[in-house]
Amino acid sequence: MALLDICTYPDPVLRRKAAEIKEVDRDVLKLIDDMAETMYDAPGIGLAANQVGELLRLLVVDIQKEDCEHGLIVLMNPVIVAAQGEITCEEGCLSVPDFFSSVKRYEEITVRGIGRDAKPLEINASGLLAVALQHEMDHLDGKLFIDRLGLIARDIFRRKWKKKQKEAQT
Ligand code: NI
Repeated sequence: MALLDICTYPDPVLRRKAAEIKEVDRDVLKLIDDMAETMYDAPGIGLAANQVGELLRLLVVDIQKEDCEHGLIVLMNPVIVAAQGEITCEEGCLSVPDFFSSVKRYEEITVRGIGRDAKPLEINASGLLAVALQHEMDHLDGKLFIDRLGLIARDIFRRKWKKKQKEAQT
């Protein structure tokens, strides 16, 4: 296994739509393992393939909560088939370091996709797990959590980001 470099905003790869995985071959399995290792090392609770520069519909999530029945979730070609309720959580992203803001999402979702064993996998998720899955699925469509902010929060992000850039230059 190997640690992968995480692409950060404004890397254009984060804005591209990832492609369906046709076959769970050896390369895909290696990518899954490397992504999981990279996520735990960061540390983070989720990672999408776009974030490591691979435009494939693949995500890994582990919210690392004892009361969560799921450990590491590996999901390919995920689709939301049911959703209800509303939840607002403070989110961050390994690709948008040092910035956190509240985002509104579905409270409960059912997601269907393919698991690591190449078999169909359906996950019922609520709360933080539902939020993490929706956040990672956004990545696969080239979307970041900062796109879901209101005008004021987005303005705060822009100012913080500009400030950070200035600091990096000096
Ligand atoms: Ni993210």
